[in-house]
Order: sequence, then structure tokens, then C-alpha cells
Amino acid sequence: MTSMYDTTVPVVENRSLTGGHFLLSLYSPLQAQATRAGQFAMVRLLGRSDVLLRRPMSIFDVLAGSACGHPLRDPAGTGLAIGALPASSWRGRRAPRHRTSERRLPARPELIQLLYKAVGRGTRLMAELKPSEKVGLLAPLGHGFFAEEYMEQARAADEVLHVAGGIGIAALLLPARDLARAGIPQRLFFGGRTKADLVGVEKFGMSVGSTTLATEDGSRGYRGYVTGPLEQYLVRRPNNKFLLMVCGPWAMLEASSALARKYGHPCLVSVENRMGCALGVCLGCSIRVVGEGHGAYQRVCTEGPVFWADKVVWGRKTVTSDE
Ligand SMILES: Cc1cc2nc3c(=O)[nH]c(=O)nc-3n(C[C@H](O)[C@H](O)[C@H](O)COP(=O)(O)OP(=O)(O)OC[C@H]3O[C@@H](n4cnc5c(N)ncnc54)[C@H](O)[C@@H]3O)c2cc1C
Ligand code: FES
Repeated sequence: MTSMYDTTVPVVENRSLTGGHFLLSLYSPLQAQATRAGQFAMVRLLGRSDVLLRRPMSIFDVLAGSACGHPLRDPAGTGLAIGALPASSWRGRRAPRHRTSERRLPARPELIQLLYKAVGRGTRLMAELKPSEKVGLLAPLGHGFFAEEYMEQARAADEVLHVAGGIGIAALLLPARDLARAGIPQRLFFGGRTKADLVGVEKFGMSVGSTTLATEDGSRGYRGYVTGPLEQYLVRRPNNKFLLMVCGPWAMLEASSALARKYGHPCLVSVENRMGCALGVCLGCSIRVVGEGHGAYQRVCTEGPVFWADKVVWGRKTVTSDE
């Protein structure tokens, strides 16, 4: 588990994409550097008594301050990537002090990027955030994709198949990069309701060998659910060993998990669930897992969000969800 920080961070950019999606860049070197593939963040809107709960968001990308096209150097020319606010404005559980070696651009990631869809009150308010405004950021959280056991399965596979449904794409970029660095062949299957939902895919270009798109309305790629082309791919390669990494709505995780089981491949799912504390205390995010008694529930925020698909009890989610 990496260090987790509870800080207040400035917005660098909040770019509007298609279909009500946004790419939010936050200046937060400590959190960016602590992030591992598949982890998530909790975003708190400051000064909003009507939106008290933090919103969970996958950490889509971490990158150097200059990478999102904004000149982040401070006017004094010290080379500090400070965004629109001085570092002294940081507040957090651990003081985000920069060692001299961390001050030069672009040695280490300084920005956290969240890719999100405005779906309700909280995310609609997020969509209004402007550069230099601040948000509360609790991150990085959760176990993410790369426990050693996961890597063993990835290395044993002929190819890793990433399967993303809608905004689930946000959990898969960092794992794809890690696997690319390890030289593991990969392919991306990405589905959405319509072509406007297929956001963020261009970032995978260098990491995955090939991408298959699907939309329910046929506006781009295969018409139908993304599990359609995924199954065709599996059927045509009965002798290959795959590892599936899946993130999306619960029903899509369940369908992908069923395909993995049918064709005999291991499958990891990154689960999204309603969250309260995200610290393992309230139990509000628990899902049922295979096992007896107390062990039959696990918390998405601490034991997850990534689980082996065959450990999850599929069917109706055990806690209320809008999916
Ligand atoms: C681990 C994890 C990673 C996520 N990553 C992303 C991401 O990268 N991009 C993105 O757009 N969305 C992501 N989500 C879903 C996102 O958290 C919800 O869409 C968001 O909280 C909705 O808030 P709202 O106020 O706009 O909606 P409302 O429906 O008004 O929210 C009401 C309450 O329900 C909760 N809630 C509603 N929908 C969800 C949901 N699907 N999952 C969890 N909580 C929900 C909210 O936290 C809030 O407390 C993720 C969820 C989890 C658990
Ligand atoms: S959100 Fe509180 S235990 Fe997971």
C-alpha cells in the first residue's frame, strides 16, 4: 500500500470533452508520485454544504506539470511547477514539501488527471471548477491492479485484454502503461452508449497494440455491447492465454467475468460502488465475495477496487447503487 494524503489542491485545467465528460488536472506532486495503477481518489468540493460527501474517481493519469499544455512555472522563474497557487497554500496531513531534486520540471509527475462524466449533483458542480480553484483530494486509495500476483498472471498471458465500459476507461490507462513498460502485449476493448462516450482512448495509443471500439447505437465501431467483439476475439483464439482487466458498470463486469470463466481465462475487475468514507470504516462500499461468514463481504475502498472476478458474488449488488 502506498502513502495516502489528504490535501487541498489547485485545479490546473478542467477540460470539457464530448458527451458531458471532463478531464480535470490537479496539481498534486506527492499524490501523483504515490499513485499506483488502478488506484482512485476522493474529490471534495469545498465550500459546498449541499455536497458533503466526497466523490470517488479513478486516477486516470499522472503526468508532468507542463504536459497538459499549461505553463506552470512560477513567475519568479525558479523552475517550480506551482500551478496557479503558491506551494505555501497547501494544507494536508503531511506537509507537501519538495526536495530540491523534485523542484525541476519534469522529473516526476506533478499532476493528477481525473476523467469524469457529469451525471449528478456532485459531478455537475465539478464540471464548473475553474483553474486556480481548489478541491479537497484524498489519494491515492485502494489496492489497484498491480499486486505481485496480478503481475504473475499478466506475464503468463499471451496478451492482456483491457475491457472498458464508458467511464470505466479511466481505471485502465495506468495499468496499460505499466504493462507496456514490462513488454506485455495488450489490446483494448472499449464500449459506450454512443461515440461521444468513447473519451480518453487516444491516450492508450502507445501502450496497447490494438483497440476495438463498440457503441450501443452503432455510431462508432461495432454495434452493441463491447462484450460482443470481446467474445469473438476469445472464440477465435482458443489456444491463447489471456488475462482480462475490466472496468465499467456492474452488469458489464459481470458479463465480462462470465466470458472469462466460459473461455477459461483469469479476470480482474475494478469495481465502482457508492462510497462514504473510502477508508474502510463505514462498510458502505462492501460487496459480497465468495466465502463463509464474516469473510463473505469485502470493502471496495480498501480490499478493492480491484478483485479477481471469480471471487465476486455476481448478481444484484449488495449495497444500493444507481447502476
Ligand atoms: C472506485 C471508483 C472509481 C470511480 N471512478 C470514476 C471515474 O474515473 N470517473 C467517473 O466519472 N466516475 C467514477 N466513479 C463514479 C463516480 O464516483 C460517480 O459517478 C459520482 O460519485 C456521482 O456523483 P454525483 O454527485 O454526480 O451523482 P449523484 O447520483 O448525485 O450522487 C449521489 C451519491 O451517490 C454516489 N454515487 C452515485 N453514483 C455512483 C457510482 N456509480 N459509483 C459510486 N458512487 C456513486 C455519489 O458518491 C454520491 O454520494 C467511480 C466510482 C468508484 C467507486
Ligand atoms: S466507503 Fe466506507 S468502508 Fe468503504
